[in-house]
Amino acid sequence: MASITIRNLDDEVKELLRRLAAENDRSMEEQARVMIRAAVNGQVGPVGRLDQIEKALHKLATSQGTPTPASALAGKSLPRGTLSNKRILLIIGGGIAAYKALDLIRRLRERGAAVRVVMTSAAQEFVTTLSVGALSADHVFIDLFDRNDEHDVGHIRLSREADLLVVAPATADLMAKLANGHASDLASTVLIATDKPVLMAPAMNPRMWSHPATRRNRASLGKDGITFVGPAKGEMAESNEAGEGRMAEPLEIVAAVEALLDAGPRPLAGRKIIVTSGPTHEPIDPVRYIANRSSGKQGHAIAAALARLGADVRLVSGPVTIADPAGVKTLHVERAQEMRDAVEQLLPADAAVFVAAVADWRTENSAGEKIKKVVGEGPPVLRMVENPDILAGVGHHKHRPGLVVGFAAETQDLLRNAEAKLTKKGADLIVANDVSHQSGIGPSGVMGGDRNRVRIVSKAGVEEWPEMTKDEVAARLAALIAERLKTIVV
Ligand SMILES: Cc1cc2nc3c(=O)[nH]c(=O)nc-3n(C[C@H](O)[C@H](O)[C@H](O)COP(=O)(O)O)c2cc1C
Repeated sequence: MASITIRNLDDEVKELLRRLAAENDRSMEEQARVMIRAAVNGQVGPVGRLDQIEKALHKLATSQGTPTPASALAGKSLPRGTLSNKRILLIIGGGIAAYKALDLIRRLRERGAAVRVVMTSAAQEFVTTLSVGALSADHVFIDLFDRNDEHDVGHIRLSREADLLVVAPATADLMAKLANGHASDLASTVLIATDKPVLMAPAMNPRMWSHPATRRNRASLGKDGITFVGPAKGEMAESNEAGEGRMAEPLEIVAAVEALLDAGPRPLAGRKIIVTSGPTHEPIDPVRYIANRSSGKQGHAIAAALARLGADVRLVSGPVTIADPAGVKTLHVERAQEMRDAVEQLLPADAAVFVAAVADWRTENSAGEKIKKVVGEGPPVLRMVENPDILAGVGHHKHRPGLVVGFAAETQDLLRNAEAKLTKKGADLIVANDVSHQSGIGPSGVMGGDRNRVRIVSKAGVEEWPEMTKDEVAARLAALIAERLKTIVV
């Protein structure tokens, strides 16, 4: 990290700095750094006369090349590159491959990214904070309980101010901690506190990688939405060891970062889009409910794909077991009526995509107590009433979004039903999918499975898309929505 020469400051500024440093139990240099960050961030300082000192320190920061904090980089002019304006929080774990993290920092910065680093204490056995700080040109964060760091940035800000968290090397230990929800040091706490995507580059001995515990952790982290790059097969640093477990090369990790951050165009920037996903649960009594087989995978993937194109996505999710998509504001509901209320509160919006499998009916009155089975009385008769039709409600709403997309999950007469839905519900597009066992899609079918084959029904006609993964359907639908919204002026 570059140093700050306090003696170059005016006497008055120096005096004020001395006083503030003493008040905050900091060195004058540290106090200056805190204030430079505030000044560069445009934040109002803690004392009235800060304007003057902030200006002086800002000048100092720019003339001495003091690192610009990652939080200040958005919108500032940076060297052109695929990762310009992107903020990466790199977590270095304690493995032999930690030395490769140094090259990774360099490669990321070359592409314009601002890199902040958290190191575990084991990582510091392999590479020094000095080298890491010099390469990242920023303070290196190592301690959850460091008073100064917590005061200046804090573990929550650290985890949220980045666009992406990268763990390289991801040790067996860090994977186990995150898979099991541990928050026992700065690295694991930041990982569990983040609302941003996480990319892990595992590196370990092949036996560690193939151990059932690591396999379990890898699988559950995947389900939680963590992305992995590597490990690769090959020679290990340990002599006479070869197999799977070698960390992906820095350039492969950079490519994964670029793909995840979709360093491409963001045609939906400034657009607010509502997405519903998952099933609804309609209570019969406090322990029983009526549900359906929707997993939320398609709706969540669409929310994530829209967010990658820059949209401000509000996801209203029924009860699902999958993770909230990264970069999306998610509201959790149970019943159709709650979903309708949540959606209406989110209006107005530029577009709304109704993917949730909302129950058509609910019981007229759900019992306040568990319904008892009484011998000789037979089963209870459940009287059903219709649930609100959320798609139709929004399709005909006075604050109707410019683009309304509905889903039609059908087991028969797919196209006829989808076309009828288009006009009846006031939708612009209906994404029709065959959820019958004859759909020919995988053993688990469309509902709950990972693949989908859809047709896009609009006034212009029907477009058939080939069978794809739900992520691919989501990406293609997000691109179509971006295209349609181009013609809709807000
Ligand atoms: C020489 C040496 C090399 C190590 N290499 C690795 C490794 O490549 N991957 C790994 O998961 N653990 C490795 N370990 C074990 C980790 O350092 C250990 O599990 C540590 O607790 C990880 O802490 P962290 O996850 O907080 O960084 C190694 C240990 C030593 C002593």
